[in-house]
Amino acid sequence: MIELAFSILASDFAHLADEVAAAERGGGTIVHIDVMDGHFVPNITFGPPVVKALRPITKLPLDCHLMIEDPDAYIAAFVEAGADMISVHQETCRHLHRTLQVIEQQGALSGVVLNPATPVETLIEVLPMVHYVLVMSVNPGFGGQKFLPLAVDKIAHLARLREEMGLNFRIEVDGGVALDTVELVVRAGADMLVAGSAVFEKGRTEQNAVELLRVARAAVAGA
Ligand code: DX5
Ligand code: ZN
Repeated sequence: MIELAFSILASDFAHLADEVAAAERGGGTIVHIDVMDGHFVPNITFGPPVVKALRPITKLPLDCHLMIEDPDAYIAAFVEAGADMISVHQETCRHLHRTLQVIEQQGALSGVVLNPATPVETLIEVLPMVHYVLVMSVNPGFGGQKFLPLAVDKIAHLARLREEMGLNFRIEVDGGVALDTVELVVRAGADMLVAGSAVFEKGRTEQNAVELLRVARAAVAGA
């Protein structure tokens, strides 16, 4: 099943609740929250208080994408604030296996993220324990960047591994997903589509979400 995880990074923060409601009306089913610390990535965004503020305004799962150094120190705080899904970057975890265990023990679904330069092979040992793998199709840190085509092969590689290993983790893709790139990533095997600018641009949040999902679902049907 294809799902749209709309990234609130591109939304109008002064009307965050309205933006989330509009994306949900357009068919979005996951709220993607980009947490940035100014160290792992050169930008600063949200922390647990924003997750806590979002929790009562939607029933959709809150997907926290942690682009922060030492994510272990913050996992409990994000779960307490209301996170349902937490993903950590492979590049930030010296003890990735333990970090993924901590996410599950705290009661959230665990995800692991790969930067564009990080090979899929670095995840072989942890694939059986994750609920989702997030393939970055831009270098993390900012919304509105150009899609990197190398992500397509990585998605396809993960889909093959999932089949060969008899697993059922989901494949999420993040960065530059828009009307002109969504078919590529869906055909390669992505089933959770993160989109920020493509959803929230031009104040047409609901219509943008509808259209993106329509094109994505048509790509599955025609794949
Ligand atoms: C980038 C973030 C993305 C970002 C995507 O570091 O992880 O989730 O919001 O934005 P767009 O869809 O505009 O590329
Ligand atoms: Zn993200």
